[in-house]
Amino acid sequence: MSAQPVTIALSGAGGQIGYAALFRIAAGEICGPDTPVNLRLLEIPQGVGAAEGTALELADCAFPLLNSITIDTDPAVVFEGANLALLVGARPRTAGMERSDLLSANGGIFGPQGRALNDHAADDIRVVVVGNPANTNALIAQRNAPDIPTNRFTALTRLDHNRAVGLLAERSGASVSDISGVTVWGNHSLTQYPDLSHAIVNGVPALDAVDPAWARGEYIERVAKRGGEVIQVRGSSSAASAANAAIDHMHDWINGTGADWTSVSLPSDGSYGVPNGLISSFPVRSTGGSWTIVQGLTVDVFSRERIDASVTELLEEHDAVASLGLLPH
Ligand code: NAD
Ligand code: LMR
Repeated sequence: MSAQPVTIALSGAGGQIGYAALFRIAAGEICGPDTPVNLRLLEIPQGVGAAEGTALELADCAFPLLNSITIDTDPAVVFEGANLALLVGARPRTAGMERSDLLSANGGIFGPQGRALNDHAADDIRVVVVGNPANTNALIAQRNAPDIPTNRFTALTRLDHNRAVGLLAERSGASVSDISGVTVWGNHSLTQYPDLSHAIVNGVPALDAVDPAWARGEYIERVAKRGGEVIQVRGSSSAASAANAAIDHMHDWINGTGADWTSVSLPSDGSYGVPNGLISSFPVRSTGGSWTIVQGLTVDVFSRERIDASVTELLEEHDAVASLGLLPH
């Protein structure tokens, strides 16, 4: 154990993703075996008991890297000096709630959390938003944190990416490690576009390795609806796979991606015709601790239509939260 401790904040720590993520984070799976971890757990009052129970179990694991655990309901306390923030806690949609009610309720969470990150986090803060609607929640947090570089705010589409790779492996009979070049574009929602145009399976273009009609039909729907499928079969939404994806996301952001790219929702720089600033999913690599959008991929008519459809949905969400006054900067 030699490196400086890293301070990792996680909101929604008493929930099911928090429970699936915290033990792996405390074991060093984000920053590696040499970096001690200070855990900062954010909850609302109803969730504090569950977070405290998780903290007891974390202590019982005697993780050599786990330096400290703090639990609080005040984002200013939890984000003080934070280097990494995983924003998982969000307001779920309940019966009778309109989409605008959901966006407004989440604005009430991610606006103040963005401001608290702005005022209290460490200079190198990196944020991933998991709580839905993840892309727009990330936009709200980012636009409430004017002093933090915009590219430090991301939303999780790694779960969609991992689903896309897993389902391609299942269909092709290849192993996951023989697959590369998969991209998920757009929003973490049903409009997302899992794209196999540039994917390679065992050295062969994916669109030669599997039926292209499947790749551009049933496959896209299956990946996009996988969250719903898990809810239907398991009785509650993805937890361990979401936690795993959030850890993959943070791990690769810090440690780099290597030869293959992955998918991350980050503020657009205008690449691939996605409006500047919109938090949308792209093919990305991480080097030197920063994400870079992979450039120069050909986008055919089919892909263009699918990307545009998801970006249109993101723009609608943007306009809805802007009209609610949730994007001050
Ligand atoms: P959960 O209900 O089990 O846990 C959520 C926790 O967040 C609860 O303990 C709750 O008390 C807490 N919370 C609510 N508001 C908070 C706030 N303002 N500050 C701090 N904590 C707060 O839910 P879960 O299964 O852990 O899922 C969490 C979120 O992640 C949901 O929005 C879910 O839709 C989303 N999700 C996203 C992805 C993705 O790929 N982006 C995948 C799965 C789930
Ligand atoms: C998921 O992708 O599993 C989550 O976003 C949950 C959901 O509501 O689909």
